[in-house]
Amino acid sequence: MAPPSRRCLLLMGALGVFAFDRFTQGQKNSTLIFTKENTIRNCSCSAEIQDCDYSLANLMCSCKTVLPFAIERTSYNGHLTIWFTDTTALGRLLNFTLVRDLKLSLCSSNTLPTEYLAICGLERLRINSEAKHPSPEQSLLIHSGGDKDSNSKEKPVSLHKDWQTCMYVSFLDMALFNRDSSLKSYSIENIASIANDFPDFSYFKTFPMSSNKSYVVTVIY
Ligand SMILES: *[C@@H]1O[C@H](CO)[C@@H](O)[C@H](O)[C@H]1NC(C)=O
Ligand SMILES: *[C@@H]1O[C@H](CO)[C@@H](O)[C@H](O)[C@H]1NC(C)=O
Ligand SMILES: *[C@@H]1O[C@H](CO)[C@@H](O)[C@H](O)[C@H]1NC(C)=O
Ligand SMILES: *[C@@H]1O[C@H](CO)[C@@H](O)[C@H](O)[C@H]1NC(C)=O
Repeated sequence: MAPPSRRCLLLMGALGVFAFDRFTQGQKNSTLIFTKENTIRNCSCSAEIQDCDYSLANLMCSCKTVLPFAIERTSYNGHLTIWFTDTTALGRLLNFTLVRDLKLSLCSSNTLPTEYLAICGLERLRINSEAKHPSPEQSLLIHSGGDKDSNSKEKPVSLHKDWQTCMYVSFLDMALFNRDSSLKSYSIENIASIANDFPDFSYFKTFPMSSNKSYVVTVIY
């Protein structure tokens, strides 16, 4: 009886280390980017900051100014929160970017045009447009990449920075921020070519994708 229980203890120890690892990972700072009057600030925050409270963010987080022309295509593996006031700045920051867990907060009462924002590998989306109309924060779970990938030969999307390798594409209609209604989405799997499968949606033709892969396309509106 002794050897199995020792093995059991070892296993429990290993699980403990694993759990601790997950715990400390959970404590990692999150990234907050906000745009305000032509200024872009990129912050690392250890605490959650009330949406659109710019001065509190400057006080509590470690922020640096990003020059608009210095924005580089990048990817975000953890939580990313963006406070924005117009689609131009948001598009410059996020269009064709890989983000898993995204929160978008509209911090102005601007009416946004119907324009799509393309995000790669999106798993969870939260939106807040409190500045426009008093409505609670909404969230949407798009897909849980981690679980699906265990029985798939495809590499998880996060390992690649390249947009070309993006298999899960989400298109967000920016006009959803104008509406009071709840977030809706639909996903279409096994799309070989976005441009050919959506002939009426000429907009998709502008997306730089290779045509020999199967995409999962999610439209959020
Ligand atoms: C913001 O900072 C994070 C890390 O601190 C970096 O990975 C990311 O590329 C930055 N984003 C922009 C738009 O500068
Ligand atoms: C985490 O955020 C705090 C401020 O909230 C900052 O002082 C610290 O430098 C950040 N840590 C990292 C690793 O960015
Ligand atoms: C994202 O890029 C596409 C293609 O260039 C463009 O048509 C669209 O308006 C952009 N979206 C935003 C929100 O900037
Ligand atoms: C898919 O297309 C890329 C170029 O877009 C090419 O390099 C690659 O060999 C193609 N793969 C297959 C399996 O056809």
